[in-house]
Amino acid sequence: MSGGRTVSALLARRADLSPTVEQVRLPDPGPGEVRVRIRAAGVCHSDLSMINGTLAPSFPLALGHEAAGVVTDVGPGTDRVSGGEHVVLNWSPACRTCWHCAAGRPWFCDTAGRPSSARGATADGAALHVTLGLGALAEEVVVPQHAVIPVPAELPFDQAALLGCAVLTGVGAVRNTARVAAGESVVVIGLGGVGLSAVLAARDAGAEQILAVDVTESKHALAIAAGATDFLVSDGGLVRSIRARTDGRGVDHAFECVGRATTIETAWRSVRRGGGVIVVGMGARDDVISLSALDVFHSGRVLRSSVYGAADPDRDVPALARDVLAGDLDVTPLITHRISLAETPAALDRLARGEGARSVVSFPG
Ligand SMILES: NC(=O)c1ccc[n+]([C@@H]2O[C@H](COP(=O)([O-])OP(=O)(O)OC[C@H]3O[C@@H](n4cnc5c(N)ncnc54)[C@H](O)[C@@H]3O)[C@@H](O)[C@H]2O)c1
Ligand SMILES: [Zn+2]
Ligand SMILES: [Zn+2]
Repeated sequence: MSGGRTVSALLARRADLSPTVEQVRLPDPGPGEVRVRIRAAGVCHSDLSMINGTLAPSFPLALGHEAAGVVTDVGPGTDRVSGGEHVVLNWSPACRTCWHCAAGRPWFCDTAGRPSSARGATADGAALHVTLGLGALAEEVVVPQHAVIPVPAELPFDQAALLGCAVLTGVGAVRNTARVAAGESVVVIGLGGVGLSAVLAARDAGAEQILAVDVTESKHALAIAAGATDFLVSDGGLVRSIRARTDGRGVDHAFECVGRATTIETAWRSVRRGGGVIVVGMGARDDVISLSALDVFHSGRVLRSSVYGAADPDRDVPALARDVLAGDLDVTPLITHRISLAETPAALDRLARGEGARSVVSFPG
């Protein structure tokens, strides 16, 4: 590859090898592309899903898709942003012309959301692939201009980064998919960055009961800090405990933020007749849920997923940035570890163990 720049990135050589920080070569921005110097990037469970067999991306793969930074240079014909602008990366940029985009649902865009795409090369010359079109656990990225969203320069980079995945997803599931209303009851199962964002949004929506669930007590304080009214440990008695807190009925909405068939089934049983289960977690192809035909009929429940918060990132990320700057949305409870790029393999191990919430990498300016 002629031209381009060499940067450090978190690289997975194969699904069964631990990722390591390596030098990769990224091209110069082509027509309609921009180069972004990353200033902060979060480690999301979906990065782990690239290498633990849940998804099947191409390798070698630069990980990372939740990030914010500064545009350093732009390719020919780029009119969306210019050098120096602060941006959040968007892992599902909408084409604005396909059937789903035209119908006002850009999160289903035909062109977006592929686990990996080819860009640049490894130090030894192999074709490099980047996670969700970004590969953002890296010093720099080169991406299509519609994969960046300008945000105010006053927004701290670490908080801006979270808007690009965990917050847009968790908040969007509550506001856009479930449309939680004041006085309703919710359960959030799985309290990583995504689930805690759902808790934040449920509190903001005025939900009266916000039952937060995880596998160990270690998430108790985080749940309460995000606005949960109750913390419950996920065990055999969970559905009974949820019903006991809702006059035996079950909650109005359950948000599954783990990505497993068993927790989707638990979410289903936690919801009242006519209530809704929102699957936010991204599970594996062969992990199959089982619901009885009579129960589906009798319960009147709705089971639906929420992809990228059913959001239009071009509209919703700037709106979330305004909320953060106005003090109406505090995303700092999500950040449990501040780390360097070299520490990202340990952050992925923490995600696999269910420890902490977001680990956020800071890069020097
Ligand atoms: N819908 C989307 O567009 C979208 C976007 C981003 C992430 N995701 C998915 O959302 C899920 C959550 O992402 P994250 O980054 O917050 O993950 P995370 O690993 O930080 O959090 C998951 C949490 O679930 C908990 N958990 C595991 N098993 C559980 C059980 N049986 N009962 C209760 N809790 C359990 C873990 O302890 C952990 O706290 C992942 O599946 C991720 O791939 C989806
Ligand atoms: Zn993510
Ligand atoms: Zn489209």
